[in-house]
Amino acid sequence: MKTTTPQTVYLKDYTAPAYLIDTVDLDFNIETGGTTVSATLAMRRNPAVPAQPLVLDGDELKTLNVTVNRKKVPFSETASTLTIADLPDVFTLETVVRIDPDKNTRLSGLYRSADGYFTQCEAQGFRRITWFLDRPDVMSTYTATLHADKATYPVLLANGNPVAAGDEADGRHWAKWADPFKKPAYLFALVAGKLDVLKDTFQTASGRSVQLAIYVEPGKLDQCPHAMAALQKSMKWDEERFGLECDLDHYMIVAVGDFNMGAMENKGLNIFNTKYVLARSDVATDVDFENIDRVVAHEYFHNWTGNRVTCRDWFQLSLKEGLTVFRDQEFGADLHNRQTARIREVRGLRAAQFPEDAGPMAHPIRPSSFVEINNFYTSTVYEKGAEVIRMIQTLIGRDGFRAGMDEYFRRHDGQAVTCEDFVAAMAAASGFDFTQFMRWYNQPGTPHVTVDGFFDGESKTYTLTCTQTNPRASDEAPTLIPIRVALFADNGDLLPGTERTLHLTATTQSFVFNDIAAEPVPSLLRDFSAPVVLDFDYTPEQLTLLLAHESDPFNAWEAGQRLASTLILDATAAIAAGQAPVWPASFVDAARRLLQTQAERGAAFVAEALTLPGESTLAEAMAIVDPDALHAARNALRKHLAEQLEGEFSDLYAALAPTAAYAPSSEQAGRRALRNLCLGYIAELDTAATRRLAMQHFHQADNMTDQFAALSVLVNIIDDCPERLAALDAFYGRWQHEALVVDKWLQAQSTSRRPDTLRTVTTLTAHPAFDIGNPNKVYALIRAFGANLVRFNAADGSGYAFIADRILDLHDKNPQVASRLARCFDRWKKFDTARQAYARQALERVRDHAGLSRDVLEVVTRALG
Ligand code: TRP
Ligand code: ZN
Repeated sequence: MKTTTPQTVYLKDYTAPAYLIDTVDLDFNIETGGTTVSATLAMRRNPAVPAQPLVLDGDELKTLNVTVNRKKVPFSETASTLTIADLPDVFTLETVVRIDPDKNTRLSGLYRSADGYFTQCEAQGFRRITWFLDRPDVMSTYTATLHADKATYPVLLANGNPVAAGDEADGRHWAKWADPFKKPAYLFALVAGKLDVLKDTFQTASGRSVQLAIYVEPGKLDQCPHAMAALQKSMKWDEERFGLECDLDHYMIVAVGDFNMGAMENKGLNIFNTKYVLARSDVATDVDFENIDRVVAHEYFHNWTGNRVTCRDWFQLSLKEGLTVFRDQEFGADLHNRQTARIREVRGLRAAQFPEDAGPMAHPIRPSSFVEINNFYTSTVYEKGAEVIRMIQTLIGRDGFRAGMDEYFRRHDGQAVTCEDFVAAMAAASGFDFTQFMRWYNQPGTPHVTVDGFFDGESKTYTLTCTQTNPRASDEAPTLIPIRVALFADNGDLLPGTERTLHLTATTQSFVFNDIAAEPVPSLLRDFSAPVVLDFDYTPEQLTLLLAHESDPFNAWEAGQRLASTLILDATAAIAAGQAPVWPASFVDAARRLLQTQAERGAAFVAEALTLPGESTLAEAMAIVDPDALHAARNALRKHLAEQLEGEFSDLYAALAPTAAYAPSSEQAGRRALRNLCLGYIAELDTAATRRLAMQHFHQADNMTDQFAALSVLVNIIDDCPERLAALDAFYGRWQHEALVVDKWLQAQSTSRRPDTLRTVTTLTAHPAFDIGNPNKVYALIRAFGANLVRFNAADGSGYAFIADRILDLHDKNPQVASRLARCFDRWKKFDTARQAYARQALERVRDHAGLSRDVLEVVTRALG
């Protein structure tokens, strides 16, 4: 393979397409040795652009024929382009290509998975199917005709409506689909396979009936009802919250076991990773059920935010992804538990997006350049993008935001637009000036806000002085940061009239509260009103007060996290210096009060509040990370809580025992989360009795949430014990035929804190349960190991070498997944020089590999740079 220098694409270089494609008629002849794709494109010159040759995109296509207006024409071809000069203003282009989906291991374009053929065209997979203008601002009306063997591929699907079907010679059949909506190529999809189907309907607000169908691998129909219910709930929710109705007659979801990402919003024919469709209480956890609700909703919501209004170019990805994540978050919050939903969103943001924004891959939610667009489906574009949308709603209110959405669709339905267009619609509907706010779209990095409080007893004023900095930004200009605040009296009462949203617009700015009788406790950044790091010099007493009394559950939780972070970081320093950590009794008392008040505060909240901040989140606050000391400190605090609160944890464990048959309701899920948290703390004591309890929990569980919680406890027992291996064997023995449960089994082992984890993971790469060609397996075993802070960053460099080897195993087979593995190295510069030397060695070894894929090359060059 020859190495070419990868090209960087810049947002500033955008130009409109030179040609437009009005209609696309595709014919797929799916045969054992390959698929022949005939494409008929009704094209015309874009009158707004100077005349130039037509340059079509392609990738791994074997060209068989090219005609213009049914006549052969001269053309020139490279591996990625087909160029035709001298074209009339309006013409029909026909191409015939041969592709080999059975050899397509990248899972981009048309590829084979166990039960048939599937497509994935976002972002640039359509060019792997046929020659095309593969860019989202070229929107066309499509038909697709599929031909395949009838017995092997009885189900033939594409976007839109079925218009005709029939049998042909040699036991083959065909089906034709027509999509009435114009769409960009990345939303094209087809499926040919042997699949079971669950059907239902949805009645829209205006009385139309939509036929719903979920297609899955044969035998899995009993794992579909939850996803179907989630789809119907999403459809209803979007009508109620945003006035958006389904525009289709047929809405299909197809689940596939080999898929690079979570799911894909192809018009009327979503294709999903099985992980986000299949669920039954004995194989899926509460978290899985909730994730399915959110992902089904996410893809459905894209029908408006992404499909009806799409992106002008891939730099605008957050236009659809940030907005659609915000919408699925709001749906999840309404459906489940708003308090804990927000807590989990922020926990996820801090674990993944903040490190990304502080590392070598940092980029604005709208990047200004990229080498490989697949590398920019990131938590910045998605999760920080959703936070930016949420800030817009915070600034103009829910009604203002709804008016802005209405205006956005009024202006742009059927168009391919930019992030500016979205914000302009919000501005027009609300009258709010977003000029300064646009900086959130253009600057990388997490802003830091430092706040000082000053109480003046004489004037009875309290002044908050806020200073913002963002060292990653290209200049020092401030952005607009909405900071929701309230002040509390020392008895825990919220001071009336102090709930405000401060608009921090200057680098340093003061906000005065009047009629304040005594020094208050400020609660800052309530509900996490902006994706920033906020520093305030709280005393432990102030944080304990907020944890107990703050009525905003997010900031109550946040106070507990601040307390725990300080303790763990101090203990890390102590351990690194050879000293024993000290744990104040006040922290244990606060934890005890949380356990005692679980009935009032909600089990789900208490479970979140007693979950200590994760190691990778804590590591971000350290100048040089000592992963062993950090790991020891965090576990020591867990053990200390277990010792001090053993009775409380045991009592609550008993009190929260299930009283009703399993249902994935948020009420029950909260109880299970807290009960399993109690089990986890009790297990820190690691006695014969606690092991027995974990084994009993494991064997008596009638659902995956509880069974997996027990397994996770058991795989983390450090001393060799028969229980750990017995549970692992029993689990695998029972579930080896459920691929998604096997993923859990792999992940439990790759995330274990045991010192021999790398050895276990290495052994598992040769286990029949593992398959490097399957993204879910790679994520569960390999990437999860790369996120195991203490084991990946082993002092001898063995973790780095292992991940580097796996990247090289995979980079050619599946560059997208290999590139995601390479992201494990994002934070290598935060460690000591000895570890850095090993990480550099591993990265350079990958970078210097001949013929390295562009995806991986971009990530490792940035990491090394
Ligand atoms: N648009 C999809 C989503 O957010 C993301 C996606 C699915 C994707 N498959 C992909 C992105 C493959 C890049 C490559 O729902
Ligand atoms: Zn999406």
